[in-house]
Amino acid sequence: MIRPPGPALVMGAGAIGCWVGGRLQAAGAEVHFVGRPAVLEELRVLGLTLTDLDGRRTHLAPAELRLHAEVPDAPRAAASDGGSGNVPGVAGVAPALVLLCVKSGSTAEAAALLALHLPPGTPVLSLQNGVANPAVAAAAAPGLAVIAGMVGFNVVRASPGHWHRGTWGELAAQAHPALQAWLPTFAAAGMPLALHADMKPVQWGKLLLNLNNPVNALSGLPLKRQLLDRDLRVVMAALIGEALAALKAHGIEPAQLATLPPRWMPFGLRLPTWLFKLAARTSLRIDDAARTSMADDVARGRATEIDALCGEVVRLARSAGQRARCNEWMQERLSRPDPGRMTGREMRAALGL
Ligand SMILES: NC(=O)c1ccc[n+]([C@@H]2O[C@H](COP(=O)([O-])OP(=O)(O)OC[C@H]3O[C@@H](n4cnc5c(N)ncnc54)[C@H](OP(=O)(O)O)[C@@H]3O)[C@@H](O)[C@H]2O)c1
Repeated sequence: MIRPPGPALVMGAGAIGCWVGGRLQAAGAEVHFVGRPAVLEELRVLGLTLTDLDGRRTHLAPAELRLHAEVPDAPRAAASDGGSGNVPGVAGVAPALVLLCVKSGSTAEAAALLALHLPPGTPVLSLQNGVANPAVAAAAAPGLAVIAGMVGFNVVRASPGHWHRGTWGELAAQAHPALQAWLPTFAAAGMPLALHADMKPVQWGKLLLNLNNPVNALSGLPLKRQLLDRDLRVVMAALIGEALAALKAHGIEPAQLATLPPRWMPFGLRLPTWLFKLAARTSLRIDDAARTSMADDVARGRATEIDALCGEVVRLARSAGQRARCNEWMQERLSRPDPGRMTGREMRAALGL
């Protein structure tokens, strides 16, 4: 068995945290999960089950899981030194790698909590969407070594204690010396980690794809059905088109993470459905039931990550003197407490497309 360089700590045991952490543990890593009490209780009773679209199933029994309630908001005093110093680590664990897996709105708080407990220089890999999370985490925890990461696949909670990976896609990170020793474990876990000298193009390439999340959430449809609806693809094409114009104005070339190069995506999305099915057959290898996590958030009445997606495009466009009208509309709509549901036709009418 491949020996990882030390324990890993998942900060935010949800879809991505449980999936990536669970697979690393199944590949031999000592993984500690920090999460909300309700999630931990499910894991304590049912264990952790991970499935994927190829029918692969991994189960970690409750007794195998190292579960920790939320990180205290003050450093713990060490009994051994008279109560004056910090005990480094979360729940007595000094991780060799932290996986930061909270939603964008929780990044600053989670990073600040980690900084209270972890030794300076602890590597923290942000597995979050958007382009700003690593900078937000680094600002809240300047002593920690925050590394930008990218998860190219989709994971949803299928039932209590059970997370399902419904699409394929790669895992990527900024090249960093602390990650080298982890590469064999990620590979053994079936999630090879691709290291990049510059993550910005990769993050923007992913953000372009994530512009589908609000369309999916507002449609209320499973991902595959939504992508096979041309009206909904036209809306996605408009959101991506605005982002591409803003990126061009800033001289940023987004990485290609889907079948088509980014600049061809708006054209490809507008194709008639029969042709789109042919052109995008690899990207359409998606479980019939897969949805985006933004759809889950809307269904559960939780705040969405819309500001980290459309909001980022709106800001990038503004700073280039442009206007990203469709992204502005989506941002406003998904920021409502109850965004409701709309058909593709209704969205196109509202956006004048
Ligand atoms: N799901 C996907 O398919 C996918 C794919 C690629 C990238 N991502 C990105 O990965 C990140 C995580 O997404 P996700 O879908 O895994 O979210 P998620 O299922 O909501 O998981 C995050 C978990 O962390 C918890 N949390 C937040 N702050 C915490 C704290 N201080 N201590 C302990 N637990 C805390 C959250 O609880 P509360 O809800 O109570 O805050 C939630 O249970 C996002 O940036 C997302 O965009 C997701």
